[in-house]
Amino acid sequence: MGSDFTRRKFMRDSLIAGAILAAGSAAVDGQEADAPKPSKSGPYKIGILGCGNRSKAHIAGINGVAEIEIAALCDVVAHKMDQREQLIRKGARPPQKYTDMEKMLAQSDLDAVAVVLPNHLHKMATIAALQAGKHVFCEKPMALTVADCNEMIDAVKRSGKQLQIGTQRRHGSGFKKAVETIRSAGVGKILSSAVNSYRSDWRVPEADEYPPGVPYWRLNQQQCGGVVYEMGAHIIDVNNWVFDSEPVTVVSLQGVNDSKLRARDSTDHGGVLVRYANDALMNYGGNLYTHGFKGGDYFFAENATITLGEGKLEIVYGNAKGATPAPMTVDLPSGDGTSEQWPYFAKVLAGTAKAYPDGHEGRRSIQICQGAIVSAQEKRIVNVKDLG
Ligand SMILES: NC(=O)c1ccc[n+]([C@@H]2O[C@H](COP(=O)([O-])OP(=O)(O)OC[C@H]3O[C@@H](n4cnc5c(N)ncnc54)[C@H](O)[C@@H]3O)[C@@H](O)[C@H]2O)c1
Repeated sequence: MGSDFTRRKFMRDSLIAGAILAAGSAAVDGQEADAPKPSKSGPYKIGILGCGNRSKAHIAGINGVAEIEIAALCDVVAHKMDQREQLIRKGARPPQKYTDMEKMLAQSDLDAVAVVLPNHLHKMATIAALQAGKHVFCEKPMALTVADCNEMIDAVKRSGKQLQIGTQRRHGSGFKKAVETIRSAGVGKILSSAVNSYRSDWRVPEADEYPPGVPYWRLNQQQCGGVVYEMGAHIIDVNNWVFDSEPVTVVSLQGVNDSKLRARDSTDHGGVLVRYANDALMNYGGNLYTHGFKGGDYFFAENATITLGEGKLEIVYGNAKGATPAPMTVDLPSGDGTSEQWPYFAKVLAGTAKAYPDGHEGRRSIQICQGAIVSAQEKRIVNVKDLG
């Protein structure tokens, strides 16, 4: 359990970051070709900032990458670091453990930091890590506002370090194959989509996982951003990737249905419509009270309708010039990209690849997430350019 000091610090960090919310064409395989010059040889040392549930998947991913060594762990709840240390690959040197983020950032041999904190702390921690001279891997959502993303992108420029965002589908073999197939299958311009993230509610941490008196961040709108930031960020990122255009206008309705079951004010359902610069329209729906849904995501193109389902991509043609091609079904490899993003980040640390997805790509999703929240709160259509 964290000390009174770390609890106060946690509360302070949460309040500072929470208060703020009130208010191109990417290659399928990333951007290795025009990467910066190789800088330093590995193994590269990384510190994991935030040892909650998601850190387990990152430790598993990093364990499979010989070029990266977990040299530090940080969490305000000390015993979570002890639990996570047990997951680090056998034979590795034990990591340093910190309950104070600033002390971890002062560890001079760290090349990089993985920010796996609650959403409202991403901006603060990323900028602090960049200023300390570390490369940063930051979990999605990049931040809660476009203004925060802008500050993070500025910090990247000032530091000369790289920032990779944890929307892992960009590295998932199945998603990469799906996007490659869509781009090469003669479907014509993609006109609109119906994409979704329907699932059950968040895992609620055990009683000893958060300091007493600190409410769980996912149930707090100021700290989490709600269903569009938490779940929507993934499929919105895939949508941005497929449409390959900039969001221009956003309209959304969101709300809370589940507050009787659980004290919460973070939105647990919503719909978002986005018009892109190339005129394509995204229609997103999400909720956190779904039982056993097995639907897919649909992309409606000039010559075909595309269904991205679990492990399968289906393309049904119509309205094509000449003979209508036979429908196409492509099996997609499994894996959502969580592990695959770490070998790629090793190349980023080696200086042989550019961070992907980077802050600009992360910001594109936040333009939609923040636009949606502003639209739902103010009951109006939001022009993305007005968000900053
Ligand atoms: N990419 C994905 O598929 C995916 C999946 C799950 C979660 N996430 C993201 O990962 C992040 C973490 O999610 P989670 O499920 O692990 O949450 P969690 O609540 O389980 O873990 C967060 C951890 O951060 C620690 N923490 C909070 N404030 C801190 C501070 N100031 N200093 C040090 N430690 C602090 C908490 O004690 C906790 O252990 C979120 O941004 C979430 O959106 C991404």
